Amino acid sequence: MAILVTGGTGYIGSHTVVELLNLNKEVVVLDNFVNSSPEVVGKIKKITGKEFKFYELDLLDKEKLQKVFEENNITEVIHFAGLKAVGESVKKPLEYYSNNIIGTLILLEVMRKYNCKKIIFSSSATVYGDQGVPKYVETMERGKTTNPYGTTKSMIEKILEDLYISDKEWGIVLLRYFNPVGAHESGLIGDNPNGIPNNLMPFVQKVATGKLPELSIYGNDYPTKDGTGVRDYIHVVDLAKGHINAIEKLNKEQTGVYIYNLGTGTGYSVLDIVNTFEKVNNIKIPYKIAPRRAGDLPELYADPTKAKEELNWVATKNLEDMCRDSWNFAQKQNK
Ligand code: NAD
Ligand code: UD1
Repeated sequence: MAILVTGGTGYIGSHTVVELLNLNKEVVVLDNFVNSSPEVVGKIKKITGKEFKFYELDLLDKEKLQKVFEENNITEVIHFAGLKAVGESVKKPLEYYSNNIIGTLILLEVMRKYNCKKIIFSSSATVYGDQGVPKYVETMERGKTTNPYGTTKSMIEKILEDLYISDKEWGIVLLRYFNPVGAHESGLIGDNPNGIPNNLMPFVQKVATGKLPELSIYGNDYPTKDGTGVRDYIHVVDLAKGHINAIEKLNKEQTGVYIYNLGTGTGYSVLDIVNTFEKVNNIKIPYKIAPRRAGDLPELYADPTKAKEELNWVATKNLEDMCRDSWNFAQKQNK
């Protein structure tokens, strides 16, 4: 009775594996290290003091994936593995569609073959597109996506819904994450993208460590409280815990398709992030105001009510925790 975690050495996956191991769950992890490093395996063991099986493999390698199911009694899958850089996906659409879509299709075929029909999928608030209002609720239809990355998320949600229509034995949870930030309090695991980061918090971390000279704030003329963009930042440990509640939900219901936003329900501006980071860490973040970034929305945040009512899950960590833990992790990195 093991839970397979694909992409389990990545940012959100590694924090979820920690939470699963802390609950004494049997966990099998796979990753091809396209966006993470083998050291994370040892770091997870160090944090938890627990052992787990790890397979270095690419989801596109169907034969090797079948071996994982042959060698273990996998009862549920949490599927994180995918490429996630929005800008890169515009430049490399074939790589993104191939890795994310074909990787998921192969995973689902193998799961079906081994009669494992419970899956939790890492989706994103990006599938809502522009709804014209800032607060996103699960009853809204999927919207128009603006880049291949977002389109893969939307397509995989649809594939999973169609799969359930064809075979009512499947149990599927689609988790729509808002903006994950922060790191495990040990500072051993966190978000450490290669190169110049696209996302706000990793960029702030690099400015704080002096690796980058200043932050560019993309626009201060949005119709928001201080003119800068507003998002729903969620601590990655809260997010990881949401997967535990999702597994419990699947095991209670057994079958069906369930969709949940995982966010705090509170929007913070770019300036809120900068000011809080400076205050709790006692460090200056130099910034300049730059033009708006193409494709950005002024303001978006989750309606987290459904996750509270049906999963009994709420985010507990605040913006200060997020900024403190991000900085603690960043200081322990060499890049
Ligand atoms: P990440 O890149 O840190 O983790 C993904 C992991 O999957 C990496 O370790 C990578 O090496 C692995 N991987 C990718 N393709 C693979 C393949 N074909 N075979 C095996 N392993 C493969 O990303 P993350 O931030 O932890 O995100 C996890 C999931 O959540 C992704 O699907 C992502 O799209 C989704 N998501 C992330 C965010 C975010 O802001 N971080 C927001 C919404 C949704
Ligand atoms: C971005 C992606 C989204 C993806 C999400 C999580 C785009 C258009 N959207 O969302 O599809 O699901 O990341 O990976 O890329 N900001 C700055 N300066 C920076 C970086 C960001 O001012 O250097 C601002 C942005 O304008 C935005 C906020 O900070 O207002 C958050 O940006 P970011 O972390 O990139 O997340 P999203 O834009 O929400």
